[in-house]
Amino acid sequence: MKQKVLEVKNLTVIYKEENREKIILNGISFNIYTNEILAFIGKSGSGKSITCFSILGLLNKNFLIDGEIYLYDDNKKINLLNLTEKELREIRGNKVSMIFQEPSTALNPIITVGEQIVDTILAHRKDISKEDAKTLALKVMKEAQIPDVEKRFNQYPFELSGGLKQRVAIAMAIVNSPKVLLADEPTTALDITVSAYILRLFLRLKERLDLGILLITHDFGVVAEVADRVIVLKDGEIVEEGNVFQIFNTPKSEYTKELLKSRILLSKV
Ligand SMILES: Nc1ncnc2c1ncn2[C@@H]1O[C@H](COP(=O)(O)OP(=O)(O)O)[C@@H](O)[C@H]1O
Ligand SMILES: [Mg+2]
Repeated sequence: MKQKVLEVKNLTVIYKEENREKIILNGISFNIYTNEILAFIGKSGSGKSITCFSILGLLNKNFLIDGEIYLYDDNKKINLLNLTEKELREIRGNKVSMIFQEPSTALNPIITVGEQIVDTILAHRKDISKEDAKTLALKVMKEAQIPDVEKRFNQYPFELSGGLKQRVAIAMAIVNSPKVLLADEPTTALDITVSAYILRLFLRLKERLDLGILLITHDFGVVAEVADRVIVLKDGEIVEEGNVFQIFNTPKSEYTKELLKSRILLSKV
């Protein structure tokens, strides 16, 4: 049975500079459930990334945040917006993790990828030896469908292709068994076959790990491929929400129809 893992209520984000204020998110509400891929789709600048950064507490002081963001962790309900920076560090990369468009963002160029995964484990688990952490890292690299894990473990990010780097970033993101995975345009920087492979990997992981995945994209092709539910975002507001069939077959808002139409045009080019 699907369970709620994240609940966003009335999230409002305002960007404030000296004498200028801009509403970036205008009271958005949504839930993410286990074993589900929720796609967030909208044009550039609609507030998709800011939504992720709000969840992870990564916005600086110029952003004023209002609303509630609950993480459901076993029997606990934690309002992420009330946590201290120290408490947030316990959540990030552990209960909630994130994958970025450019895999290098998540990787340190001067440390081998295996060691980085080991460090991610040790950062959150005091009860595990370095040796056991390595065994776990190799297991998770396999789970992320990285071939030749023993060899890859000792390589540096620059020695890997974009697709492999993204798989390492995914391994790092899932290694502490998160509840929620935020994937911000995770395939945009990859070519189409690699992109399809990564999307199938998300499908596999959501089932095997019972993950709630927020998949951000501006591409309806990506949505069609893997999403269970879809939220359409426009200028910081949700204009439409539904399951993937409803959105494709009977879109309600003009904006969604327009996005779908531009996709059809693109696919004909
Ligand atoms: N660091 C920032 N400082 C000021 N405004 C920002 C910053 N990052 C994003 N914004 C603004 O917030 C809005 C939403 O941005 P974003 O969430 O990055 O859009 P998306 O991910 O949907 O392309 C945009 O209008 C953008 O200009
Ligand atoms: Mg973005």
